[in-house]
Amino acid sequence: MQLSEIAQDEELDALDPLRHLRQEDTLELLPPQPISIQNGRIQLEFPSGGTNSESSIVIKLAVDSSPGCGGIAWPAGEVLATYLARRGRESLRGKTILELGSGTGLVGLVAGILGGSVWITDQSPLLENMVRNVEINDLSHCVSVAELNWGEPISQELSRPADMILAADCVYSEPAFPLLVKTLDDLVHGDSSEVLLCYKKRRKASFLSPADKRFFTLLKKKFTWVEVEDDPNHQIYAHEAISLLRLSKKH
Ligand SMILES: C[S@@+](CC[C@H](N)C(=O)[O-])C[C@H]1O[C@@H](n2cnc3c(N)ncnc32)[C@H](O)[C@@H]1O
Repeated sequence: MQLSEIAQDEELDALDPLRHLRQEDTLELLPPQPISIQNGRIQLEFPSGGTNSESSIVIKLAVDSSPGCGGIAWPAGEVLATYLARRGRESLRGKTILELGSGTGLVGLVAGILGGSVWITDQSPLLENMVRNVEINDLSHCVSVAELNWGEPISQELSRPADMILAADCVYSEPAFPLLVKTLDDLVHGDSSEVLLCYKKRRKASFLSPADKRFFTLLKKKFTWVEVEDDPNHQIYAHEAISLLRLSKKH
């Protein structure tokens, strides 16, 4: 979403505050009801970049939709994991990384394999499966799991400035939009963190749940952003309405 589109949207909202309730676009339920999977196992492979020809990164994932939609792997997470993997195995060595709404932990697990020191976070029902995934992939030495509810005060441990903040497919629930923006605002100090947000563009889940444009209207108060352009897969996932954005805090 471009900043100009948001400005135009705000002008239209000012003229007609109820217009979102009258839109008749085809609606996409998002994320849809989680596919019902219990105690599943999948394996995902990501080509690893870097100077030497390196073997691809393989992640084994326990997936289970019973604790919530985050119990399965979402496409925006795969896009972000693929983007990071292209940087190569040692590319995140010495970097501290915090992922929000990690779900299965996929993106953070890849960041751990790339050498980062990673926190994967989510709401409490998801944590058990995330711990399992850290263990299955033998990454306990570099990936830690913690509860982080957006909008709530952040523990001292997690609020240390991270070199990289990641969020994949976290823009889907309107009540959570201000909470997510608050947490991003709380976590990012100045320009020292690289903030990557990968999201799937959604229209609206129902008459009462407006489009993700609302998220960007809130985000705009605290951040600017650009599409990530150095990703050769950009055209492919753009067809699926997935965008990868790099956020910068407004001064
Ligand atoms: C669609 S899933 C995406 C999971 C994962 N990032 C991926 O790409 O596969 C959204 C995640 O956001 C988490 N989430 C939603 N609301 C949250 C909140 N208020 N605080 C923390 N996490 C939240 C959910 O539990 C879920 O794991």
